[in-house]
Amino acid sequence: MKKILFHKTHTTQDELDAVADAIRSGWLTMGPKVNEFEDAFKHYIDSQEAVMLNSATAALHLALKAIGLQADDEVILPTNTFVATAEVVTYFQATPVLCDIEYETHNIDVTKIEALITPKTKAIIPVHFGGQPCDMDEIFALAKKYNLKVIEDAAHALPSKYKGTFVGNLKSDITCFSFYATKTLSTGEGGMATTRHKEYAKSIATNRLHGISKDVWDRYSGGGWKYDIIDNGNKYNSTDLNAALGLEQLKKLEKMDERRLEIATMYDQAFRQKVETLTIKNDRKSSHHLYVIKIEDRDALYEQLKMRGIGTSVHFIPIHEHTYYKEHYHYDRSNYPVANRVFERSLSLPIYPDLSDDDVHYIIDSVLELVQ
Ligand SMILES: Cc1ncc(COP(=O)(O)O)c(C=O)c1O
Repeated sequence: MKKILFHKTHTTQDELDAVADAIRSGWLTMGPKVNEFEDAFKHYIDSQEAVMLNSATAALHLALKAIGLQADDEVILPTNTFVATAEVVTYFQATPVLCDIEYETHNIDVTKIEALITPKTKAIIPVHFGGQPCDMDEIFALAKKYNLKVIEDAAHALPSKYKGTFVGNLKSDITCFSFYATKTLSTGEGGMATTRHKEYAKSIATNRLHGISKDVWDRYSGGGWKYDIIDNGNKYNSTDLNAALGLEQLKKLEKMDERRLEIATMYDQAFRQKVETLTIKNDRKSSHHLYVIKIEDRDALYEQLKMRGIGTSVHFIPIHEHTYYKEHYHYDRSNYPVANRVFERSLSLPIYPDLSDDDVHYIIDSVLELVQ
């Protein structure tokens, strides 16, 4: 029987050599490689500023700090997301206000946002589900009308484009990427915040390392021993080992992206009119981080595919279904009919560069056989 993991990161000797070099350099934490990766990332996305962190969660947290989120503020986000998107709001004793999603894309339903805006609303966090950019023009229009900040959760969206522009270089205040193990570019754990605002980048860079006025590499590479604490920061910096990995992964990003597109296309063609899939809107490019199908008996299919050696997953258990969030925020699940329906039926299939055509055919044949 075949054994197909839900995800496996594509790495070669290049990553091994790069990490070995970083170790041999004798400097194992944040230093020149982090700077180099930030520059390369910035260049690729065409953003003005990029700050590397140890996760997207850290990036989202410091993004909300940079825009000045306060206790009792409200932040609108989709309920169909990973908990990190909501959790960071709670760090401020602010309230995550959940919005329902669109059935076709699983992105935030922009037609339902305005009704959720109150005088306490400070920001919107759109999540580009599976790598497909949200309806950003509509979100920017609402943000302008109500004077709200926009922080993009782009954990899935590298490389993704909205109307020809890379996510990470749109008009939002800050965009947060994830380099977690399953993401389209992985450093094991890691994240990046991009922004066109220098003051936001400075705030995030300072707060990723305890609020110190200059970074450790500066101090150890001849910048002098003196420093000052200018904010109450966090320990959210990444390391040169992770950045060395990221630099190699970035060189392969387009090739990896092409392969994910090939796999998505194979799935699309095979499932057409047989299995329900998501729609990618014409004016945007998805990173194809996830490939989701919707079927009536999701749990049975999950088990049956597992018996055939195929690993699958579910994205996501909606925020309003989690115990902590139910107990603390008393969300009314009847406000999220689409997210509930989507959650019951969704199953994410493997999609990553190291899958062979044979693997993909095996997955397709298994799904078609089992859902008939
Ligand atoms: C939508 C979304 N946002 C945020 C995160 C958090 O990313 P990280 O693990 O890098 O903190 C994830 C991770 O899976 C995610 O899927």
